Formats: sequence, C-alpha cells, structure tokens
Amino acid sequence: MTIIVIVNLLLVSTLLCVKTDSAVNFYYVCTFNTHCRCYREEGTEKLHVDCANGKISKIPKFPSNTYILNLQHNRIRVISDNAFQCLSNLSILDLSHNHIKGLKLHSFEGLGKLNELNLNYNPLDYTKFPNESLIPLVSLRRLCIKRKLLMAAVIFIFSDKTISYLKSLEKLEIDVPAIYQKRDIFGEGYKYLIHLSSLNVGTCDDLLINAKIFEYMPLLTYLSFDIKCKIHITPGGHRSLKNIRHFYVHRLVDTLLPYLNNFTNELKLTPIETLSFRNTFAEGFEDRYYPWNPISRNLHNSSLKQLQMTENKLGESFPVSKLDSPPASLQALNLSNNKLEKFALDLGNIRNLSLQNNYLGGFLSTRSYKMSNESSSLEFIDLSANSIETLTFILFKDQPNLKYINLSHNKLQKITFDVSRLNDLHYLDLSRNNFTTLDEKAMAMLDGLSKNTFFTVNLRNNALQCTCKTLTFLKWISKTKVDLLLNDKCTLEDGTIVSLNPIDSIIQQLQKECSTYTYLTIALSIGLVVILAVLILALVYKYRWKLRYMFYLAKSKHYSYKASTDDGEYTYDAFISYCDDDRAFVLKDVIANLENEGNAKLCVHQRDFLPGQEITVNITNAIHDSRKTVCIITRKFLESYYCMFEFNMARMENNYSRDGRNIIFLVFLEQIQPREMPLMMLELIEKQSYIEYPNDEEGNIVFWGKIKEAIHS
Ligand SMILES: *[C@@H]1O[C@H](CO)[C@@H](O)[C@H](O)[C@H]1NC(C)=O
Ligand SMILES: *[C@@H]1O[C@H](CO)[C@@H](O)[C@H](O)[C@H]1NC(C)=O
Ligand SMILES: *[C@@H]1O[C@H](CO)[C@@H](O)[C@H](O)[C@H]1NC(C)=O
Ligand SMILES: *[C@@H]1O[C@H](CO)[C@@H](O)[C@H](O)[C@H]1NC(C)=O
Ligand SMILES: *[C@@H]1O[C@H](CO)[C@@H](O)[C@H](O)[C@H]1NC(C)=O
Ligand SMILES: *[C@@H]1O[C@H](CO)[C@@H](O)[C@H](O)[C@H]1NC(C)=O
Ligand SMILES: *[C@@H]1O[C@H](CO)[C@@H](O)[C@H](O)[C@H]1NC(C)=O
Ligand SMILES: *[C@@H]1O[C@H](CO)[C@@H](O)[C@H](O)[C@H]1NC(C)=O
Ligand SMILES: *[C@@H]1O[C@H](CO)[C@@H](O)[C@H](O)[C@H]1NC(C)=O
Repeated sequence: MTIIVIVNLLLVSTLLCVKTDSAVNFYYVCTFNTHCRCYREEGTEKLHVDCANGKISKIPKFPSNTYILNLQHNRIRVISDNAFQCLSNLSILDLSHNHIKGLKLHSFEGLGKLNELNLNYNPLDYTKFPNESLIPLVSLRRLCIKRKLLMAAVIFIFSDKTISYLKSLEKLEIDVPAIYQKRDIFGEGYKYLIHLSSLNVGTCDDLLINAKIFEYMPLLTYLSFDIKCKIHITPGGHRSLKNIRHFYVHRLVDTLLPYLNNFTNELKLTPIETLSFRNTFAEGFEDRYYPWNPISRNLHNSSLKQLQMTENKLGESFPVSKLDSPPASLQALNLSNNKLEKFALDLGNIRNLSLQNNYLGGFLSTRSYKMSNESSSLEFIDLSANSIETLTFILFKDQPNLKYINLSHNKLQKITFDVSRLNDLHYLDLSRNNFTTLDEKAMAMLDGLSKNTFFTVNLRNNALQCTCKTLTFLKWISKTKVDLLLNDKCTLEDGTIVSLNPIDSIIQQLQKECSTYTYLTIALSIGLVVILAVLILALVYKYRWKLRYMFYLAKSKHYSYKASTDDGEYTYDAFISYCDDDRAFVLKDVIANLENEGNAKLCVHQRDFLPGQEITVNITNAIHDSRKTVCIITRKFLESYYCMFEFNMARMENNYSRDGRNIIFLVFLEQIQPREMPLMMLELIEKQSYIEYPNDEEGNIVFWGKIKEAIHS
C-alpha cells in the first residue's frame, strides 16, 4: 500500500510539475499532531502531512497550507461535515484502510482543488453516499472507492447520479455487484464524465462485457480488472470498447479455448495496444490447450503492440514446436514469472522480450529463444533469474539490433555465448552471477565491442577473485575501455576479502606474490620429475632381468602362459650354458658322458640353436624348453656377456616359470674365489646346487653321476 501511495504521489507530482525528489528525506514530527510527520516542499508554502498508521479515530485539524494528506491505516469511522473545510489547497487525500462506511452531505466541503481521493479498502456501503456529497470536488481527477469486502456478496451499485457531478474525473477505481448484471452498471450519469478514460474494477461476479456496458464511457482507453473480478465478453462486446488501448485481465470466467477465441476476436476489432493477462492462466489446462495460439493468431491483424502474460503457469502450455508466430504489430512481449522451462519463438517484429524469472536455464544451454534463422529486430532481452549455468554460443545469433541484455540473478561462471557481432550493444548485465574472473577470450570479445560503441558490463555482486590465476583479468580491468560496473571487493587466495581500490596496488602486490609462486611451482615440478625419473630408473634396474626375460619370452613363438610342470614334455633334459673357450670340454666330455652314456638329451647352442633366429630368443627358448640348465662356470664365463645373459635368463625362468623348483645347476671347472662371483651366483651356491670338477679319474665318475642325478631330479 505504501508503495502505491508513493507511486501515486509521484504520479500526481509529475502531473503538477512538482519536484518530489527530496520529498521523502526531510520529514519531521508535525507541531499540530504528534502522530503525523510533516514536510514542507522546498521553495513553497506547500505542506505534506503523513499520518499513516497513526491510530487516529477522529480527523484532526490541519494547517490550511496542507497540500498532500495521508490518513491511511487509521481508525476513522466518520467524516463529519466540513472536516476538511479550511484545506482549500489540498490536492491529494488518502483515506484508504480505515473504517468508513459512508459520507455526510458536507464531508468534502471546501475541497475544491482536490485532485485525488482514495477511499479504497474501507467497509464502504454505496447506499450511504448522499447524491450531492461529491459536488464540492470540482477538480477531482481520480476517485478510488474499491471496498474492503467483509461479506461475500456486494449488492448495490454506486449511484451514477452521485458520480455524475465529478466532471473532471479521469480515473475511477470501483466495485461492481453481481446482482445488477442485467441492469446498467455504469448508467446514464457517467455520460457527464467527459474526461473519464481509465477504469479499474476491483470485485465483480461474472461481469459481462456486452455491446452496451460502457455505452456512457466512450473515451475509455484504459481498462483493468483485479483478481477478484471474473469477466466474460459476449459477441459484439467490442462496441463498448471503441477507444480501448490498454486492457489488463486477471481472471476469465471460462478458461476454455472457445472462450479465449471469442475474447480475442472481439479485441481485434478495437484499437487495442496493450494486453495483459496477469495471473490469468493459473489453473490447470486441458491437454493441448495453448493460450498463446488463439491470442497471437486472432490478434494478427490488430494494432497490438505489447503483450504481457505474466505470473501464469505456462510451463506445460507453451510447447516450443507448436507456437504461432506473433502478430506483426507486436513490439514487446513480457513472459516473466511463468515457470517456463522451454521457450523458442519466431520473434517477428518484437523489440523487447522479457523472460525474467522462469526455468529456462537447461533449455538455453543448448538452444536459443529465437526460432527462425532470419534476422530479428530484437533490441532488449531480459533473461534474468532463470537458473542459468551455461549458455549456448549461438544464443544471440541473427539479432544484430540487440542493445540491452540482462543475465543477472543467474549462476554463470563463464562467458560461453557470442556477443562479438552485436555492434549496437550498450548494456550487458551479468550482476549476481557466479563469475570469479573472465577468461582471455571473453576479455578480447568485450574489448572488440567497446571499439565501436560505449558499452557497459555490469559485474556487480559476483565473487571476483584477486589471485595469481586472475591477475590477467585484474590487469584488464585496469586498462580496458569497456565501462565496467564492479563492487569494491574481491577475494584473495586464502578467502579474505579486500578492497579492489586502488586496483593498481592490488596488481602490484599480486605480481610480487605470484612471481615467487611461479618459481616455487617450477622448482617443485622439476623436483618431482627428477624424483619420478630416478624411481623409474631404479625400478627398471632392479627388474632388468625380469623385464628382459619377459620381453624375449614374449618374442618367442613357443611362449606359453602356462608354467611348465615336470609332467610336461620338455624338448631337452638340460641346456648346457658355457663359454666358447670351454667348447672342447663340452663337446668331448659333457656330450660323451651325459648324452651317449647317460641317455640325456642335451641342448648345446652350437648344435641345437635354430639358425636365422635371434640369439637371445634362441637362448630364452632353449632354457624354457629344457628341464634344467647346467652352467659350466669359469672365469671366462663370468666375463662373457652372453654367458651371463644365459645364467640370468635361467634365473628368471627359475623364479617365474617353474613354481620355484630349482632348475640351475652350476659346474665349476676352476677354482673361483667367492669375491669374484656375482651376488646372485653366491645365493645359488648357498642352496648347494653346484659341483666342482675334480679332474681325476675316480672323482670324475662320481662327478658325472651327480650331474646325471641333478638333470633327472
Ligand atoms: C492556496 O494556493 C494559492 C496559490 O498557490 C495561494 O495564493 C494561497 O495562499 C493558498 N492558500 C492557503 C490557505 O494556503
Ligand atoms: C439520488 O438520485 C437517484 C437518481 O436520480 C434518485 O433515484 C434518488 O432518489 C436520489 N437520492 C436522494 C437521497 O436524493
Ligand atoms: C463465441 O462466438 C460465437 C459466434 O460469435 C458464438 O456463437 C458463441 O456462443 C460464443 N461462445 C462463447 C463461449 O461466448
Ligand atoms: C490479415 O489481413 C489480411 C489482409 O488485410 C488478410 O488477408 C489476412 O487473412 C488477415 N489475417 C488474419 C489472421 O486475420
Ligand atoms: C514484465 O512483467 C513483470 C511483472 O510480472 C514486471 O515486473 C516487469 O517489469 C515487466 N518487464 C517489462 C520489460 O515490461
Ligand atoms: C523496451 O524497453 C526499453 C527499455 O526498458 C523501453 O525504454 C521501451 O519503452 C520498451 N519498448 C516497448 C515497446 O515496450
Ligand atoms: C533458414 O533455414 C531454412 C532451412 O532451415 C533455409 O531454407 C533458409 O534459406 C534459411 N534462411 C536464412 C536467411 O538463412
Ligand atoms: C536485470 O534484471 C534484474 C532482475 O530481474 C533487475 O534487478 C535489474 O535491474 C535488471 N538490470 C537492468 C540494467 O535493468
Ligand atoms: C553460485 O553461487 C552460489 C552463492 O554464491 C552458490 O551457492 C552456488 O553453489 C554457486 N553455483 C555454482 C554452479 O557454482
């Protein structure tokens, strides 16, 4: 209510060309009544008196220079005769929200300059307004007599005789009783109100707009109905709306499609410019009922410029693919507060589009609100409060005239959409989002735009960060030509909030911190890489034989994943590993003793290796295919690369393929000191799997016997 009063105050003030900019600031307690606050208009004698919420039950006396008097929300019951008699210059009188039922004959005596009288929301009884009680109000332009309804039904109409004296009246707010449906609600007395252009109906019951209802109000241009008024239009109703320009609907009697069809068909025959359905389509609809289509289709050839369908629940009834294109005359479309989850339309000639406060976040992440690929005339788009987290790149495609984009109250963190071709863009509102910084691409795009026009970006109420990562952004802020609106604050790495001003000192401070930070990061990374490399090398070294073993085994055609068992067939009983210098011993003694006499099948590389095969693969195969590997150890063996290779491969075979059974047997042809041997060999010696060559006849017999035993064990 206060808002309405302030608005009214401003409206009237502007009408009367009075400055009220500072009006609200310098109120003081009135000397004549401590329940009221006073304000004297600068440079004049005019007094504003505000006694709202003052618990006043009897109207006090006011100074004669009172110009605006606010008595709303008090306990006044009666306006006695001549109560305001001396207020000959009073312009606005607000008596709304009291306990007034009716008037006395001389209640308003003396108010010859009153412009605006507000009696709204009193328990008014329209029969208690004497016919002549309004005669003194010769200057009245606005009268508000909507009732505070205590009882369900209103039974009397306000007498058109009483109202007929208000020859200056322009705006009327009034209730209409149900019982008078069939009689003249706005009777002949209204024909004297030759300035009446605006009518607001508070409550009504199934008000029928027929050809006659506004017969005596030919100049009616503005018509609005509050939520407590259900209306209905009958064929021919347009004849009583000859001059209607602005039509505000709250409730329709019947929400069925045929009815909306008739309604819009009548309106198209009027000079309608603004049509508003606020909180009209609130209840559930039948399937396939899309209120947009009858409205846009039937008003296609009309003069409609602005259409508002706000605070409805259009979510279900706005199917993207089934919507007609808007009337060619339509310039502004407001679809705010509709719980819309999807919206895309061929925008026609629409210049202003408001989709504020819907649920379009998900939809707009992949699609634009604009349907056809033809260039649109859109200049103004409001997508604020839509829970948007990300937007499609092509959102503003083919809309070269866009001047104003509102994306505030969303959850954007990044500019993912393209504005680089919007050469007319003046204002981009990104306030109250989740931006912490802008990326390089976005900064370049905004800079590009600011070359052509003066261009404002609002980044207020985003939690911007002042850290090493956002340093580029902060530098950009300090030098860009884009007109940036920012809060004074930013958040440091550790979460503390600091002032962004002066930005140069923040930048300098960060630059210092960030250089040490950079060096530290580089040093740490290098350290990490080195440690990793060492680790890997160490691992490779430790497992070098295993790796080689695996590698050669994998290369070998004979490779099989199954570990061989003793039951399994081995091609050879033993693989003899020896150094070339001991060839004679092998070819002569070993083969003779083991193969010829001992029936063992030996693998000897000079004889049994496959020609053409890589030597390493041959070795691996031979070891893998033999039950045992016998190494003939001499100093030369220990020095030879290939011998040691054979020894180590055998070790690996031992460790990984034979379930831990020992397959290596060492034969020492000469005396070798333990310190001359590699560690791995010493381990084997400890396990007793070796024998020394005695080189005397008796010993030799035992020697060969032991070897045979070892090979077959
Ligand atoms: C009413 O206004 C007129 C003109 O502004 C002024 O001359 C007159 O003194 C005012 N009357 C009172 C009672 O303030
Ligand atoms: C008020 O005017 C109406 C219509 O002219 C008339 O019927 C009614 O009697 C009048 N009321 C009084 C109290 O004069
Ligand atoms: C709609 O208009 C048609 C023809 O003008 C009329 O026959 C029908 O009764 C109207 N429907 C409603 C619900 O008023
Ligand atoms: C609009 O008017 C044109 C000609 O003035 C007519 O051809 C067309 O059918 C009308 N469209 C509608 C939807 O009434
Ligand atoms: C759209 O309608 C809403 C009411 O739901 C209003 O607050 C807003 O200002 C309107 N926007 C425009 C651009 O007219
Ligand atoms: C479109 O919006 C702008 C900016 O709010 C406003 O100045 C203009 O009057 C609007 N145009 C229409 C046709 O509503
Ligand atoms: C729009 O798209 C349709 C098909 O999708 C194509 O035929 C038409 O040429 C396009 N128009 C423009 C202006 O790109
Ligand atoms: C953008 O929309 C928000 C919320 O709807 C509103 O508060 C703000 O004033 C709008 N911005 C501009 C520049 O109109
Ligand atoms: C956006 O910011 C709000 C409040 O700052 C936070 O609650 C929300 O989780 C953020 N959303 C995203 C997607 O980061």
